[in-house]
Amino acid sequence: MLSKRTTTSVALAIVLSSTSVFAEKISFADSVTVSADTLVVFHSKDGNDSDFSTFDKKSQGHLTKAVKAEGFTSEYGSFLQVVAPFGLDYDRVLIVGIGEQEQLTKDKLTALGGNLLAKLDTKSTKIIEVSTDDLANSNTSASLLAHGVSLRAHRFEQYHNEKRSEKTFVFDVENGKAAQLAYTPLANIEQGVFLARDLTSEVPTEMTPVDFANAAKALKKLGVEIKVLTPKQLKKLGMGALEAVGRGSKDGSRLVVAHYKGSDEAPIALVGKGITFDSGGYSIKTGASIARMKSDMAGAAAVLGTIKALALNESKVNVVAVMGMAANMVSQFSIAPGDVVTTAEGLTVEVVNTDAEGRLVLSDALWYAREFYKPEIMVDVATLTGSKVRALGDRYAGLFSDDEALVTELTFAGKQVNENLWRLPLGYKDMLETDIADLQNTGTGGPGATTAASFLQQFVGDVRWAHLDIAGNALSSKAKNEVPTGGTGFGVRLLSQWLMTREK
Ligand code: BES
Ligand code: MN
Ligand code: ZN
Repeated sequence: MLSKRTTTSVALAIVLSSTSVFAEKISFADSVTVSADTLVVFHSKDGNDSDFSTFDKKSQGHLTKAVKAEGFTSEYGSFLQVVAPFGLDYDRVLIVGIGEQEQLTKDKLTALGGNLLAKLDTKSTKIIEVSTDDLANSNTSASLLAHGVSLRAHRFEQYHNEKRSEKTFVFDVENGKAAQLAYTPLANIEQGVFLARDLTSEVPTEMTPVDFANAAKALKKLGVEIKVLTPKQLKKLGMGALEAVGRGSKDGSRLVVAHYKGSDEAPIALVGKGITFDSGGYSIKTGASIARMKSDMAGAAAVLGTIKALALNESKVNVVAVMGMAANMVSQFSIAPGDVVTTAEGLTVEVVNTDAEGRLVLSDALWYAREFYKPEIMVDVATLTGSKVRALGDRYAGLFSDDEALVTELTFAGKQVNENLWRLPLGYKDMLETDIADLQNTGTGGPGATTAASFLQQFVGDVRWAHLDIAGNALSSKAKNEVPTGGTGFGVRLLSQWLMTREK
């Protein structure tokens, strides 16, 4: 049936000629001229759907008949697929339940877009027309659905022989231009998410601290200032903790700085944990979990991805990402349990456990951010503890902060983009005491996620600060809503959302 009509539309051509690479071909039009194989229509609980009625009439009531025959209740996120009835020139019609209009929040629309893509991800579905006139605020709703589609469609394909085939989505909206305008910032955020996901999914041998630094340098063309500090320079600045963690690997540690200066305000510093592989070191990891430790640089990936999103959006914010990069490996040159390292802050740390390496690299990265950028706020992002995974699982990241306003802002931003935070306490600093040095790097008791956070707190000075423990959130083995399997890019959407609402 595709050969019957022309398959191009003006709106589609605009998207294809744009510079960013979209996971799917997505366009918005107020009158759709493309010949689609699939029609998507929405159905709410109150049943007041004029668009649905129009299609229903064209099919002489077959859509209503299908809804009744199948007992379709229009719950949010429910689907009913039917072979296109006589009168509707498609192969199939997908009826999507939206529950109640008023409850269709931003995060729910994005998630629905993701599940829509998953539902239609078959070989025979190529061109999809999504009729959004029955959604309140058709233009912004369509942009959020498209965001979900695109986020779910992304796949790290480096090692696949067969690449995923792209689908074409045409959203039928009230105003094509307005919808495209609403979508563009989201599409830019997607590019930041995809960068973070790809960096996280890449295998450890191909994503060393040096590889990561080179990936950061690619952002120079967007006007981002990039600095890379070598082990020699780290030592000179006194960053003995960061330097020590990378000592067991061939190239050693790096500090990577990416500065996007979109305003003259004091900067916000985003500090990322960048362990490109965490073997545990001499306190070596045992069991299956070690195979997931390529993702231990997801915090660094998230803050770099956020910088990319902000730069593409030309956001009016001043943000610096400081990433502490190292591979925590076993070798003749690795630090040994019991060694003492000296941080740039001046505090000495007994490394009781080489597997508690994240807090070591972050301590120096936090110091560097403070010392060289005088930030108004610091937010660090780290796959820091197994304790956090046991406490909150993968549906929430842990949030630690004494700054109530910051807690509120970050939690709210997370809610809006489906990257949810749950606050956990600070405290238990006394658990970090040792008779050998100023601090030890593991707690002698207390909740592990909290003792780790309390360790970090020793390095933030009097700067407003929040810590996000994203262990368990960074690498997904089961696709859900707008997030496919693999690196999730968790944090990019939350931080972008938060920072863009701070634009002056
Ligand atoms: N990278 C791990 C934390 C982690 C665990 C991330 C599971 C993602 C999934 C971290 O470096 C680590 O090993 N933490 C130890 C600290 C302990 C030795 C004090 C932990 O949580 O077990
Ligand atoms: Mn570790
Ligand atoms: Zn780690």
